Amino acid sequence: MKGSTKIQPQDVVAPIDRRLYGSFIEQLGRAVYTGVYQPGHPAADEEGFRTDVIEAVKELNVPLIRYPGGNFLSQYRWEDGIGPKDQRPVRLDLAWRELETNQFGLHEFMHWADKVNAVPNMAVNLGTRGIQEAADLVEYCNFPKGTYLSDLRRKNGAEDPFAIKTWCLGNEMDGPWEIGAKTATEYAHLANETAKAMRRVDDSLELVACGSSSMDNPTFGEWEETVLDECYDNVDYLSLHRYYGYYNDDDPTELDNFLGKNLDLDAFIKGVVAMCDAVKARKRSTKTINLSFDEWNVWYHSNDADTKVTPWQVGPHLLEDVYNFEDALLVGSLLMTLLRNADRVKIACLAQLVNVIAPIMTDTDGGVWKQSIFYPFMQVANHGQGEVLVDHSQSATYNSREFKDIPYLDTVSTYDAASQTLTVFAENKHQTDTLDFDIDLTDFTVDHLIEATQFYGYDVKADNRDGKMQLQALPVNAQDHAATVTLQPLSWNMLRFKVK
Ligand code: AHR
Repeated sequence: MKGSTKIQPQDVVAPIDRRLYGSFIEQLGRAVYTGVYQPGHPAADEEGFRTDVIEAVKELNVPLIRYPGGNFLSQYRWEDGIGPKDQRPVRLDLAWRELETNQFGLHEFMHWADKVNAVPNMAVNLGTRGIQEAADLVEYCNFPKGTYLSDLRRKNGAEDPFAIKTWCLGNEMDGPWEIGAKTATEYAHLANETAKAMRRVDDSLELVACGSSSMDNPTFGEWEETVLDECYDNVDYLSLHRYYGYYNDDDPTELDNFLGKNLDLDAFIKGVVAMCDAVKARKRSTKTINLSFDEWNVWYHSNDADTKVTPWQVGPHLLEDVYNFEDALLVGSLLMTLLRNADRVKIACLAQLVNVIAPIMTDTDGGVWKQSIFYPFMQVANHGQGEVLVDHSQSATYNSREFKDIPYLDTVSTYDAASQTLTVFAENKHQTDTLDFDIDLTDFTVDHLIEATQFYGYDVKADNRDGKMQLQALPVNAQDHAATVTLQPLSWNMLRFKVK
């Protein structure tokens, strides 16, 4: 099979906002307790943070981390997680039916985020709480000094303000499962008033309003319109959430369909962009609302196991999906889809980061292991830099149960003018045939190939618990103005060129 692309530096989708490679830590399962935070573990530092986890997160080069939830957020009192640890209350977490000891809270998160070189994407509870508590949290975090809450922060060890810029106004408030779920009208009003109050404390904030928690929710569309109608002037982003998997009666061998699910992500993004722009036009506004895709991933492997978890434990094994090779291929495609939409998707968070539907897993008594999905995410987050270039690729396509015209060749390129580096990500979705990929680089002069890797050859249902998955070298025929490469069936590939 053949495929081709022409890569042109002047044909730019958008500069890449590195926050597209964000992730998410929720106080859920073992994300925090025995994940990020495990005092007494041989790898723990003086604050109880696992240094082996810190090293793995740094490999992913995640620039932004959403916290503290997720569903957990919608019944969380942020004040529980500050001050002397021996005075912090143990609470029932009603979202996940766990015990929350609050030994890890705001200051611990901020210290940890610093250690992994990420900025926070903080969230305020609009489920059980409201305007006052949200404004209080902004004051506690961002106000310099001289007020009760800013001085309390200083007393608790943070002299300088945390200066948190990006904030989510609640989580999945359209979801019937959410504690304190709201109608679109109720949420729109609360979000708008909360945004107003938060901005009065700090007018430099960037605010994210909740969009639909899934495209499948019956209120999808109507929700976005109602929320934007009321909040347009006071928010900067609208959120999207989407998870993929084999659900209900899906045939778990229907790989052709599974690998096409990035078309669904693309349609979701384009639909929400259209809704944002329709409201903009109706309001005759000059302001553009961009998207924060603040939860995305594959999530289904742990669903059955999760129904059997005994409630009211601290840090139970919840949402511990073990990812296989086909999940890594889909995650690669989802990342490329986010990149192709980088003109409007400015923030995205792989949900989540450690132990809970995560690329990084910890053994409570041992070390860290990397899931299959770690590899495509690591490569895109580290090397998808500069600008995204328009995709001019061509290849044969196929139809699956849900999707039409899925290209066998899925590819996107990024060009970083500062380092003169061109990076091509490419996936061959054909299950048996290799794909001869011709890359036309007429508008560049190739100085040399920096590296080329392929990720392939594993059974689609194989996982990486044994740590054997690895990126392999990919042979490339690079010339002055072109390159050719053979993509193996079911493979994820990356090529990096130094260009002039
Ligand atoms: O990421 C897991 C859960 O998925 C989050 O808590 C929630 O926001 C979503 O439903």
